[in-house]
Amino acid sequence: MTDHAQLQQLAKRHLVMHFTRHSAYEKDDVPVISHGEHCSVYDTNGKKYFDALSGLFCTQIGYSFGAELGEAAAKQMAELPFFTNWNYAHPRSVELAAKVASLAPGDLNRVFFVSGGSEANESIIKLVKQYHQLKGSRNRYKMIARRIAYHGTTLGALSLTGISSIRAPFEPLMAGVRHVSNTNSYRRPDGETAAEFTQFLLDELRGVIEQEGPESVAAVFIEPVQNSGGTFTPPEGYCRGVRELCDEYGILLVADEVICGFGRLGYWFGSERYDIRPDLITFAKGIGSAHVPLGGVLMTDAMAQPFMEGTAMFTHGITYGGHPVASAVALKNLEVMEREGVLENVRQNEDYFRGILRKLGEKPIVGDVRGAGYFMSLELVKDKETKETFTDAEAEHLLRGFLSGRLYESGLICRADDRGDPVIQLSPPLVATRDDLDFIHDVLDTVLDEAWEEMTRSGARQAVSS
Ligand SMILES: Cc1ncc(COP(=O)(O)O)c(C=O)c1O
Repeated sequence: MTDHAQLQQLAKRHLVMHFTRHSAYEKDDVPVISHGEHCSVYDTNGKKYFDALSGLFCTQIGYSFGAELGEAAAKQMAELPFFTNWNYAHPRSVELAAKVASLAPGDLNRVFFVSGGSEANESIIKLVKQYHQLKGSRNRYKMIARRIAYHGTTLGALSLTGISSIRAPFEPLMAGVRHVSNTNSYRRPDGETAAEFTQFLLDELRGVIEQEGPESVAAVFIEPVQNSGGTFTPPEGYCRGVRELCDEYGILLVADEVICGFGRLGYWFGSERYDIRPDLITFAKGIGSAHVPLGGVLMTDAMAQPFMEGTAMFTHGITYGGHPVASAVALKNLEVMEREGVLENVRQNEDYFRGILRKLGEKPIVGDVRGAGYFMSLELVKDKETKETFTDAEAEHLLRGFLSGRLYESGLICRADDRGDPVIQLSPPLVATRDDLDFIHDVLDTVLDEAWEEMTRSGARQAVSS
């Protein structure tokens, strides 16, 4: 076993972390997480952290079922450690496809497995293009996604992603992608009703489709609840309206459920909760509670149909898609989720969670509390009355300079995020109890007061109050 000091030395010398400013660890320790239990994880110093982010929105069943899922993995390893889904199948991928189809809404009955969320969106980009070609519409290649939405980092998925800072280094990206407004109602004019907001969004979407030429648009991508920017829920009538626009123009509707799928919103799919009726769903993370790398694409029977005829095929493949061990673990994860009643747990506690977060919403630094299920955010503002947000430099100080470190010290893992306006994102494991949710509240209760004081001390607040 490598001890804490050795791990630090080796991590700093050899490990390149994802989306990580390594300079931050020149002086400080790299947080090395060694084990977990229920909703908490422990670092190699033995310090405990409540994981209010479920890893990265993905450990639905928390950290206490690893041994049980591991038994399923070991059994599968002994039986058949690997075989592909290229021209062959194996029992676990077949069973898992059938299981996912049984949980999915409507006639989303066909499943194509990959290894994660970016690959799932990458696959959909190709699937929709090829679908339209097979249906005789060779010109439909354009995609519409939403601003600040995150759809992954591989080049196709990144083209859908609407976050300028992570796109910029890799431009030019895939041609033909347009971004429209997301469903952030906090930043809409005072007094605007949900119906008016919906109308604005649908008019804008229609405008972009018309401008691009409807016969050239292949697909529209939405998350049921958009993560990046801070859990933007859809206003009343929006999902139905997007579906109707897609139908009117012959465009495919894709629900990116990489986060929202598998219980995060209290339903197997967010599409069910918001009655989205998509042609395609991408999923990953929660299907195996991230105990294994696994993702996939769900498609309706009608979507799959042209690929099943004559010499046609979906001209795409990923070696590990539907890996037998990953599939076995995902099947066991879904069994555990059903046995432990995690969807019911989320539904029973959603209002309670929102209620205690709304109490935090009374603080001067919290401008908005929003989200659904176990997927909530607090938007942080400089001035609650005017909704004035922090400048880039202030947000950098607040989120990276203060909150991230302070929350971590306080034993709470959550995300202080600046991809849109500053937010704290909360996405606890779906097995979290009310006591667990209270712990999140209690830590934030203290740390948000400290953050407000810190922003006063650093001069950000005087700037408004003087
Ligand atoms: C909505 C959404 N889509 C796609 C992805 C990409 O998934 P992955 O990191 O597994 O490639 C993510 C990752 O967080 C996501 O949140």
